[in-house]
Amino acid sequence: MSAVLIDGKALSARKREEIKKKCEIFEQEYGRKICLAVVLVGNDPASEVYVRNKIRGCEATDIRSLSFTLPQTASQNDVEQLICALSADESVDGILVQLPLPKGLDEDRILNLIPTEKDVDGFHPVNVGKLLLGKETIVACTPMGVMTMLHDNDISVAGKNAVVIGRSNIVGKPMAMLLLRDHATVTICHSRTKNLKEICKNADILVAAIGKPEFVTADMVKDGAVVIDVGINRVNGKLKGDVDFDSVKEKASYITPVPGGVGPMTITTLLENTYLCGVRRERAKS
Ligand code: GUN
Repeated sequence: MSAVLIDGKALSARKREEIKKKCEIFEQEYGRKICLAVVLVGNDPASEVYVRNKIRGCEATDIRSLSFTLPQTASQNDVEQLICALSADESVDGILVQLPLPKGLDEDRILNLIPTEKDVDGFHPVNVGKLLLGKETIVACTPMGVMTMLHDNDISVAGKNAVVIGRSNIVGKPMAMLLLRDHATVTICHSRTKNLKEICKNADILVAAIGKPEFVTADMVKDGAVVIDVGINRVNGKLKGDVDFDSVKEKASYITPVPGGVGPMTITTLLENTYLCGVRRERAKS
């Protein structure tokens, strides 16, 4: 049996149409466009591509984007001054600082400076804390995008064994919290996990967010499992996921491809988060 493909590109296109309509209504109501400020420090090639795609996503959904590129040599003070200016700018709804930052910059200090109501990435400790507490908040884009993909395919997670491989602050931890919020029984695995294969084999829903190409092989997957591949690894100029797609698709019931799976949904969720920040900021004024 071959798994059903969860098409992130198609879902993304549909969601972007919806977001565009909502942004147009926002502009009619409030007389201004939703606005996202994107900050890139340095010239990491992968980050440059991600930032360009985020700006393109804004263009496709009628979100005004402001792009700031600081040199690799920018000081902590240079970055902090920019964030403070964007924080004070009433027309800016969301601030995104592309990670990773060049070595020597204090990432925590910079992320903490972003006002929680403009934190489109959901990386601020207050927003992370709200997620942990099960409160309404802005949630990191990649795991939120995964939840949208599951919901769109009517894949219920309540009562299921969900295994997340990877414990990063950007993906693994918020992913686990979202699955828990929807009543899954959640296990987080990482580089020190013992019996990884056995734990994965028990997963009804398996999320791979490790950053190692084709790490998850068919022998680690239960028959009929839902397999979500968050990996984006460049191998000989090609994009490879964390899942060995060709063998795993024969065992899974649903699977996300790379490219065209989780990746497009991450950016679409950023656009949705930006819209949400704009609406909440306007409502907070009245
Ligand atoms: N670097 C890798 N993923 C992300 C993301 O989702 N947001 C930001 N700001 N940087 C990233």
